[in-house]
Amino acid sequence: MTDSLTVRDNRTGLEYDVPILDGAIKAADLGKIKAGDDTPGLAVYDPGFVNTASCRSSVTYIDGEKGILEYRGFPIEQLAEKSSFLEVAYLLINGALPTKAEYDAWVHEITYHTFVHENVKSFMQGFRYDAHPMGMLMASVGALSTFYPDARNISDADNRHMQIVRMIAKMPTLGAWAFRHAQGKPYVYPDNDLGYTANFLSMLFKMSESKFEADERLVRALDVLFILHADHEQNCSTNAVRSVGSSQVDPYSAVAAGVGALYGPLHGGANEAVLRMLRRIGSKENIPSFIEGVKNGNEKLMGFGHRVYKNFDPRATIIKKACDDVFEVTGVNPLLEIAKELEKIALEDEYFIKRKLYPNVDFYSGLIYEAFQFPPEMFTVLFAIGRTPGWLAQWSELVQDKEQKIARPKQIYTGPRTLDFTPASERWA
Ligand code: COA
Repeated sequence: MTDSLTVRDNRTGLEYDVPILDGAIKAADLGKIKAGDDTPGLAVYDPGFVNTASCRSSVTYIDGEKGILEYRGFPIEQLAEKSSFLEVAYLLINGALPTKAEYDAWVHEITYHTFVHENVKSFMQGFRYDAHPMGMLMASVGALSTFYPDARNISDADNRHMQIVRMIAKMPTLGAWAFRHAQGKPYVYPDNDLGYTANFLSMLFKMSESKFEADERLVRALDVLFILHADHEQNCSTNAVRSVGSSQVDPYSAVAAGVGALYGPLHGGANEAVLRMLRRIGSKENIPSFIEGVKNGNEKLMGFGHRVYKNFDPRATIIKKACDDVFEVTGVNPLLEIAKELEKIALEDEYFIKRKLYPNVDFYSGLIYEAFQFPPEMFTVLFAIGRTPGWLAQWSELVQDKEQKIARPKQIYTGPRTLDFTPASERWA
């Protein structure tokens, strides 16, 4: 058996052998297949890139059938249990776990880059009182490129490292300030005595106390949520970062594009929809009629189903555990009872079993965020902070990948051709 695909083009009767490498064929090889000398080569039509690999990557591995998620080869379950978000960020960016000295240097670097230029504060204050925090985050991350014009030098490894550190360090500052802005509260400066996630909580919730000390269990739960969101291979926002980054623009502009993609309801917004759904169901007695409505196609069970995971979403299992830890501190969110019952009933129902529909990461994450007293608009900001190391690891891989080119998909043109243009003065006469 050879690793190749034999294609017979019935338009010409010609046969082609197309090599298969790593379970894929090169689209360029199909381009050699033509109906005639002056016709374009065969293209692949794939809206949404459902079955098109855009890169080789060694950052994240997913097996959707088996429910496996690994960062740089390490299972997400082990990282969530035994690692910290900054260690995971190091792993994603550098491809290997840090030594003690490397880890200390990394944490020190990130901690001492959490401050932003005072002018960033001024322009964030210029947003309207009801500005969506994701819009503020997207604009302010993009604007950082104007503060660090050297970031354009993406071919220099030290320079790339500097921008990666800055961005991972400053995202919580920008995210927390966007939150404070909506509340009309003064922005809180970073506290370099605190760890990454504890400092974020301080910038969010500190009032007049001289030091804000969050409950350790809450710090750990949020840290775990950041770990779970840190990367997810070629999802919509990562693809946006890579696509924009492929023009060789600075990484702040590329990550701003990722934040923009994450802002959309199909990507970062599902957990908010879960909360709305649970509120609407209102009590356990209403679950059977709700499920009937879903089965009749009236609506979806939000937080269930995934394009890739078809048996279980490993992140959902970890989040369920984090829920218990958080509610121990904050008291139980009454919606949790409805969520658990809903999950139980759905998992036993033929409709969901047949379609391989299981809870995804968003089914429980909204409940946790709400327990932290985050308004729903902030949920996606938390996702963005967690995803930043993943975006940057993928961007870094992209700019060093000799096979990569500027992203420029093909199209199948369906409009009119060679029309004659009549000037407006004649058309409207
Ligand atoms: N509730 C009810 N039915 C669902 C469903 C859900 N949450 N998700 C999928 N289905 C059904 C579809 O209606 C379809 O049924 P059919 O075969 O009878 O037509 C079948 O399951 C396959 O779904 P499909 O839409 O083809 O799957 P997809 O891979 O394109 O979609 C999602 C994946 C995530 C977009 C989809 O499951 C969904 O919309 N889930 C709810 C939103 C959500 O939680 N998103 C967060 C993802 S992390």
